[in-house]
Amino acid sequence: MKVELVVNGQPRSADVEDNTLLADLLRDQFKLTGTHVGCDTSQCGCCTVLVDGQTTKSCTMLAAQADGAQIVTIEGLSPNATEPDQLHPVQQAFAACHGLQCGFCTPGMIMSTVGLLERHPNPTDEQIVEGLEGNLCRCTGYVNIIAAVKAAAAAQGGGR
Ligand code: FES
Ligand code: FES
Repeated sequence: MKVELVVNGQPRSADVEDNTLLADLLRDQFKLTGTHVGCDTSQCGCCTVLVDGQTTKSCTMLAAQADGAQIVTIEGLSPNATEPDQLHPVQQAFAACHGLQCGFCTPGMIMSTVGLLERHPNPTDEQIVEGLEGNLCRCTGYVNIIAAVKAAAAAQGGGR
């Protein structure tokens, strides 16, 4: 079937199988390989994107279900469309706070943080833990990730 959607502000269309996952559409057909696939059990959160503003594990959604949706991936986070290499404040905070080591989980962590800060611009520790509970990191121990979320909140005008 043919799907039409908006990805990072650009209208896109593709022919997909009924069982094509959104994660595979993004990576394999649209070559947006910043969306990672780290498990086949819907647990790791590396594949997190925004679907109509909602953080969504793109391995849990069929491409067909995304027909007509607005998708934002890690590649689309730049606050300046004419300078796509400019980092979003959440990306800057993860870099500044060393909120990553190998980086495999990082796109998903950042997309979940963007969604979290939309819901809670001034999150409590509990809200940060809850907001990132669907994202696993095998490297950092999470301390610097939580620091990065707080730094991003402060940079965006929230923060405690
Ligand atoms: S790839 Fe692990 S939750 Fe999607
Ligand atoms: S930085 Fe390696 S899995 Fe999170």
